[in-house]
Parts: sequence; structure tokens; C-alpha cells
Amino acid sequence: MAIIAPSLLAADFLQLQKACDIVNNSEADWFHLDVMDGRFVPNISYGLPVIEHIKKAAKKPCDVHLMILEPENFTEAFRKAGADIVSVHIEACPHLHRNIQQIKSLGMKAGVAINPHTPVESLKDILQDIDMVNVMTVNPGFGGQSFIPHSIHKIRELRRMIAERGLHVKIEVDGGVTLENAQAILHAGADVLVAGNTVFKSPDPIATIRQLKEL
Ligand code: DX5
Ligand code: ZN
Repeated sequence: MAIIAPSLLAADFLQLQKACDIVNNSEADWFHLDVMDGRFVPNISYGLPVIEHIKKAAKKPCDVHLMILEPENFTEAFRKAGADIVSVHIEACPHLHRNIQQIKSLGMKAGVAINPHTPVESLKDILQDIDMVNVMTVNPGFGGQSFIPHSIHKIRELRRMIAERGLHVKIEVDGGVTLENAQAILHAGADVLVAGNTVFKSPDPIATIRQLKEL
């Protein structure tokens, strides 16, 4: 059964408590929290104080997706704010292995996110050290974009790489996940579905989460 991680980026920011209640009271598994710095990606979202507040309301793990340069400067602060899982971008980290060591040494699960143009092969020498890969299926920076179809091949290929090596790395798929394409994404080998607009812009988010969970 898939892990469902609703992205609060698509929630009403004036009603964050309500959004947290939706995730808490649904079959969702994690909170997906998108942090953008206006440098690595062309947008700014929210940061530490907001996550600190979400953490107080959250009854499920917080999966923090850092779309920022030099994440090492903030890893500890995100741990303190309540992150349980932290993903950093391969494209933003020349010393990726050190980033992963830092995240794990702080007691968090470590993920690596890859942009749509980054080949899954680039994970070859880090895969054994991480808990999760976030396969970005849109260009990071904005919610509500369309799933890039080629991503299906990447997910399948990554699943094969993980299986061949007998690893237990989770594959998270992030961007443009809908009720229509989720089945194919899972079939290709995804473990975690991130869904922003599909959940929070739906008339009944809890029912939509249930539908994703039942796929
Ligand atoms: C995009 C973020 C995504 C985003 C997904 O940069 O990483 O997590 O919130 O939103 P949807 O599901 O609306 O594409
Ligand atoms: Zn994300």
C-alpha cells in the first residue's frame, strides 16, 4: 500500500490548522513540507517558523523537502523545527555524502531529490546510504504543474537499481500526481505519493486521500 504524503504547499495558508486536521484525520501517512529559497528554485515558500507550528499540530511524520542551496546550514534547525525526514537536492549539493551523514547524525531519515533532467544513474554511489529518493516529476518550485510523462521510465529504472542491489530505499514521487496517473506511478515502482493540488483543491480532501490510499 502506498505512503500518501499530502503537500501543504497547496493548502490555504490562513487555515493551516484545518489542513493539519485533514492530514491527521485521514489515511495519509506523512506531511510533505516544501521549503524553497528563491535561489535553487525560482520561488519562495515557507520556512522554519511555519514548520515549527505545523509540527505542533501534526500527528504524523514531517517529510521536509529542501529546495535550497547549502542545506547544511539549516539541517539542524529543521530537525529542531520538527523534521523527521529531510530530502536535499543532488543538484544543490556538491558534497552530498556529507549532507546525508549530517542528516542521519541528527537522527532523521535522509532523502535525495532529483530534478526531471537528472538521470537516476547519478544516484549509483549514494543509494546505499539513503532512505529515500524523491523523483521530481515536475520542475521544482511550484505546485499545480503537470506530471512529466518521461518520469515513469525513471521510476521504473530506479526501482530496478534498488532491487538489484537488495536495498530498501523508498521511491517518492513528487509533482503532478493525480487520481488518474497515480496507479501507473505506483505500478512503475513508487512507494510514496506526494499530492498537493490533487488533495487540497479537491472538494473532499479526506475522501481523495482515501482514494489514493486504496489504489
Ligand atoms: C514542487 C513541490 C511539490 C508540490 C507538489 O516544487 O516539491 O511537493 O507541492 O504539488 P502538486 O501535487 O500540486 O504538483
Ligand atoms: Zn516537494
